[in-house]
Amino acid sequence: MYIVGQEEIDAIAAVIRSGALFRYGIGSECDRFERRYADYLGTGHVALTASGTYALTSAVVALGIGPGDEVLVPAHTYMATAMAVLAAGAIPVIVDVDESITIDPDAVEDAIGPRTRAVIPVHMWGAACAMDRMMAIAARHDLLVLEDTCQGIGGAYEGRKLGTIGHAGAFSFNYYKNMTAGEGGAVCTADARVAERVKCAIDPCHFYWQGRSDQQKPFAGNGARASEIMGAMLNVQLDRLPAMIEAMRAEKKQILAGTAHLGNLGLRPSPMNSPDHDCAAQVMYLLPSEDAAARFAAVFPSVIAGTTGRHNYTEWDQILIGEGAAHAAMNPYNMAENRDCRRSYSRDMCQRSLDILNRTIMVPTHPLHGADEIADTIHNIGVAARVALGGMSPAEADLRNVQPVDAQKFDLKVPA
Ligand SMILES: Cc1ncc(COP(=O)(O)O)c(C=O)c1O
Repeated sequence: MYIVGQEEIDAIAAVIRSGALFRYGIGSECDRFERRYADYLGTGHVALTASGTYALTSAVVALGIGPGDEVLVPAHTYMATAMAVLAAGAIPVIVDVDESITIDPDAVEDAIGPRTRAVIPVHMWGAACAMDRMMAIAARHDLLVLEDTCQGIGGAYEGRKLGTIGHAGAFSFNYYKNMTAGEGGAVCTADARVAERVKCAIDPCHFYWQGRSDQQKPFAGNGARASEIMGAMLNVQLDRLPAMIEAMRAEKKQILAGTAHLGNLGLRPSPMNSPDHDCAAQVMYLLPSEDAAARFAAVFPSVIAGTTGRHNYTEWDQILIGEGAAHAAMNPYNMAENRDCRRSYSRDMCQRSLDILNRTIMVPTHPLHGADEIADTIHNIGVAARVALGGMSPAEADLRNVQPVDAQKFDLKVPA
């Protein structure tokens, strides 16, 4: 997603002109964004950081997860979800997604073992996870829940903002996200103690800038501070967010209504956990076979979830080869504390996920799409469905105004 205009340019220029580029004691944009975003989310605390990856890492650390702990992560997510677990010294355990292409609550429950301490549901491609079930499972098994909301900014689950339902939520503001500052990230939590620990992880000098506290012992953390330029840009991006989400939801609704009749060919929308509240950044269909999905995407430029490279566990090389840190002594896979954690992986360990992902077609929406573009998309989905499922030959496909999909964003790979 990329909507940036004069407002962002003006906001950044104002920071540069003022010379107030550092947040602590000098600028006010980061503080202002953290307050405003917490209000928007309806939670107590937000802390900005340099990336979504570090937002996840600082949240895992702040929640007290570490060596000896397993954390359940889905088979379909950007690899940073699992890397954040390793960065804290814990072990990621990969579990299946279901047809919503988010983590399967049944698979989560089945995967819980004596060492399992937490689960990271990922609101993938803007689609909400089954959060009621997730929180019920977590309560039953005393698990912590960290919502990876990097791809779910602005979305909600049954009216509650994504990121605020678990014990903490992590966001990314990189170039591809619903709010962007080029790069950036944030953690939200309702727990003041966790928020303080997040800030300590983000900036080891945090107590120095903001004052020492008897309540909170500092610990060594990395340096991943946000700049005032990031804060200024995000303050403008936050103003754009509600209208963007509304436009994407309206587009998704129209596309689903306009393609509902294709159910008789076998084109079925993917089941969504909160269809009226999620980000609606994609319209998803679950095709009956991998071949049909491949035929669909070959005719109409769209995305097969299973071919989105780095978003599937089969591409997480470091994990598959057990290189959990740069130094062998810091590698969680070698740590004595992790001896009883499940540490073996294979490329075929989540076949059910791969089957679903290879049958899932995603058609991206965009907040700036107008009525004509939406009508063309509906027409083109109909054509692709007839080719994929109705025996139409690709030569007969009369597509209208086809736009390419962003191959880099979706890390598109030709299916093997
Ligand atoms: C699901 C998910 N988690 C984590 C991240 C990491 O965010 P960043 O790229 O800002 O480090 C991303 C970013 O693409 C993501 O999509």
